[in-house]
Amino acid sequence: MPLRSPSAVLNFLAYHSPSPFLRSATRSFTRTTTMSSPLTLQSTLPLPNTTLTIPRLGFGVYQSHGPTCIQSCLTALKAGYRHIDTAQYYANESQVGDAVRQSGVARSDVFLTSKILSAGTDAEETYQKIIESVEKIDKGGYVDLFLIHSPSSGTAGRKLMWQALERAHTEGRLKAIGVSNFGAQHIEEMKSYAKVWPPHVNQIELHPWCQQKEAVAYCQKNGIVVEAYCPLVRNEKAEDKTLNAIADKYGKGTGQVLVRWSLQRGWVPLPKSDTPSRIEGNKDLYDFELSKEDMEKLDALDQGAKGAIVQAVSNDST
Ligand SMILES: NC(=O)c1ccc[n+]([C@@H]2O[C@H](COP(=O)([O-])OP(=O)(O)OC[C@H]3O[C@@H](n4cnc5c(N)ncnc54)[C@H](OP(=O)(O)O)[C@@H]3O)[C@@H](O)[C@H]2O)c1
Repeated sequence: MPLRSPSAVLNFLAYHSPSPFLRSATRSFTRTTTMSSPLTLQSTLPLPNTTLTIPRLGFGVYQSHGPTCIQSCLTALKAGYRHIDTAQYYANESQVGDAVRQSGVARSDVFLTSKILSAGTDAEETYQKIIESVEKIDKGGYVDLFLIHSPSSGTAGRKLMWQALERAHTEGRLKAIGVSNFGAQHIEEMKSYAKVWPPHVNQIELHPWCQQKEAVAYCQKNGIVVEAYCPLVRNEKAEDKTLNAIADKYGKGTGQVLVRWSLQRGWVPLPKSDTPSRIEGNKDLYDFELSKEDMEKLDALDQGAKGAIVQAVSNDST
């Protein structure tokens, strides 16, 4: 696979260099420079053990349906987003694929994610469910990242889904594979059957009121990229005093502060909107930087699992 950018070369060395010293030094260099370079809409993160990178800002499409989904994705791509997050469960994979094809943006310049929620009756049926999604999104092509949507199917279901993802990954229909809503024990358990480990990504609910510190620390320790869903808390905290004081200070909207906070925490936030002006505004995040003090004020809002609006992961059970 061609190494198209300096970050891809560094990522390759970090995981594939024959020298342990070079592997360790490039990983450390990549971590430091990734965190300290100014963020832009084009910023990416390396995915572990691959030469791939993932755009730092994603675009969510949960509860975006039919022509609205196509139009929202087109607006997002025109605004410069290059990463869209769908799922079998959202029933809009075809619309996401249609939007990319209609947009005029090259397929190779867009990072597309989908998710499988439950296994089929056996390995073959599970694999076919994944391939059906790939065909809906990019007929004859590939999906950049495919996740197990939830650990809720139990060990047997998770194993079936992971092995089907690994097969499609080996065949090149999926560039990267990962998990969602997994806690530390779910990911540890995968070691007993996974050929690809660690998973490239774990997508979990993350915003100031639900920071899932244990799961995040586990992912960071193991080099797993952390994606933040519900980064806008579905606008449920729009009246929060701390958030509003910070938004006023920077002359920004509360949504922009929340997504910027997520980026500065090192995550990959996936804000969703079907409103064109919000789609535009939610990516205007690069003309300000939250100070250490303001980051700490937002960090202090954590309510642990109680702050979750969808679900907090379980770290100590499978
Ligand atoms: N893996 C999982 O289990 C999981 C779970 C949940 C979500 N996700 C992913 O993460 C994405 C984001 O999460 P989410 O969609 O649940 O929630 P979210 O992005 O936190 O919030 C979306 C809601 O906020 C509104 N909104 C957007 N921008 C706004 C702004 N600037 N001001 C005020 N309101 C604004 C949207 O309304 P309008 O659309 O009307 O503008 C929508 O109702 C999803 O779309 C999905 O891709 C994954």
